[in-house]
Amino acid sequence: MLERLPTPWGLVRLGVAPDHPNIKAVSRAFERIAQQPGFRFFGNVEVGRDVTAQELRELYDAVVYAVGAQTDRSLGIPGEELAGSWAATEFVAWYNGHPDFQHLEFDLSHERAVVIGNGNVALDVARMLALTPEELAPTDTTDAAIKAINEAGVREIVVVGRRGPVQAAWTPVEVGELGELAGADILVDPAELELDETSAAELEAAPPTVKRNVEHLRDYAKRAPSGKPRAIRLRFLRSPAAILGEERVEGIELVRNELVGGRAVPTEEREMIECGIVFRSVGYQGVPLPGVPFDERSRTIPNEGGRVEPGLYAAGWIKRGPSGVIGTNKKDATETVELLLEDARAGKLPPRTGGSLEELLAGRGAEPVLYAGWEAIDRAERAAGEPHGRPRVKLCSWDELLAAGRAK
Ligand SMILES: Cc1cc2nc3c(=O)[nH]c(=O)nc-3n(C[C@H](O)[C@H](O)[C@H](O)COP(=O)(O)OP(=O)(O)OC[C@H]3O[C@@H](n4cnc5c(N)ncnc54)[C@H](O)[C@@H]3O)c2cc1C
Ligand SMILES: NC(=O)c1ccc[n+]([C@@H]2O[C@H](COP(=O)([O-])OP(=O)(O)OC[C@H]3O[C@@H](n4cnc5c(N)ncnc54)[C@H](OP(=O)(O)O)[C@@H]3O)[C@@H](O)[C@H]2O)c1
Repeated sequence: MLERLPTPWGLVRLGVAPDHPNIKAVSRAFERIAQQPGFRFFGNVEVGRDVTAQELRELYDAVVYAVGAQTDRSLGIPGEELAGSWAATEFVAWYNGHPDFQHLEFDLSHERAVVIGNGNVALDVARMLALTPEELAPTDTTDAAIKAINEAGVREIVVVGRRGPVQAAWTPVEVGELGELAGADILVDPAELELDETSAAELEAAPPTVKRNVEHLRDYAKRAPSGKPRAIRLRFLRSPAAILGEERVEGIELVRNELVGGRAVPTEEREMIECGIVFRSVGYQGVPLPGVPFDERSRTIPNEGGRVEPGLYAAGWIKRGPSGVIGTNKKDATETVELLLEDARAGKLPPRTGGSLEELLAGRGAEPVLYAGWEAIDRAERAAGEPHGRPRVKLCSWDELLAAGRAK
């Protein structure tokens, strides 16, 4: 397993919200796999930088790309590049301790933050901004992020969906836990939950998860604010038309949408919301790897069931696009591996020319972090967290990670 970071487990470590430790615990299942004979980890090795795709093909019988979706989708509206307009990807990577994002400075001094998107990442961002010091303290959120969130002036977090409550992409557990937050009221305008005929019919025929989402929202719409220090306001059928401001974000212009054939179509009705920070949470997207086929439209590696061609495979978000929970990737990976084994049994895997990855990396001056190095990082982080009742205190600079990971 080759990984550009010194640490394994992708978004489980650096995406999943720190107040969801039970979900992060899936890494224990990965650790068991890592104990299998024949498994080796090479962290701090980037495909395309330290080793080429072609070299991997020559070294190994088969290569599976599971590189995820490394960047964010943009909105394509004026003002998107203003200071204070952030991709959710950046904020998430920052509070989770991703070493490439620790230099970012989020100015949370403003009273209102706006989050665009109605997926689970949008809810993660809104919830993280709303957590109380007591809720943050037992997590592995970085110290810098805990301090910034605790000291934030943010009083209201507005989450804006371009379609209606029935079409939201989030899931019931995540919507439901908003209602349990110690420090934030959830505000929903009952008028925005009124469904047009098509949405009402869609809800009638919808799976139970969608029905539960809407039940939660109807429950919130009935609640009176209880005076908690922060509030999360859920808005629907609104698209951002422009992010406003001279030097930095001062507001956002929203346009009201109508649903036509399930699509959000803008009306003439516009409104302006004052805010000091905007998080664009409208999905991730894959990036091409040199020497590996890439479909620009879907931003994935073109494949059939995970097979690109015998010897070359894809799994996870780079195979099917940036959606699905951790469990989805298990089924997805199984499908890929079955095809790989089928090709192996049929003798279709291309011959390898041999050589050793270690020698190749050593020749380039690369400094891989091996599994024992990751275990050393893991031990150091857990030991730092233990006295404070936290699962870990993450090392989050490249220097610290590489120093701790030098154990062989
Ligand atoms: C913010 C967020 C929160 C989430 N929370 C949950 C949750 O609570 N529960 C849940 O079930 N699912 C959650 N998900 C979804 C889940 O994280 C994904 O389904 C899953 O991580 C996708 O796995 P993947 O292997 O495709 O990609 P990733 O997890 O992104 O792993 C890809 C890995 O490839 C590495 N890589 C990239 N390029 C290279 C290269 N050139 N060379 C070497 N290595 C490379 C990356 O560094 C990364 O470690 C969340 C997703 C996000 C974005
Ligand atoms: N706790 C968890 O289980 C958890 C936590 C985080 C993430 N995840 C998973 O990770 C995956 C990725 O999550 P995600 O939230 O990044 O993506 P997502 O689920 O695809 O949601 C993206 C949201 O952005 C909206 N959107 C897209 N383009 C837009 C635009 N131009 N203007 C306004 N809104 C726009 C979408 O609306 P439309 O529907 O109208 O396109 C949708 O509401 C999902 O499968 C998610 O469930 C799970």
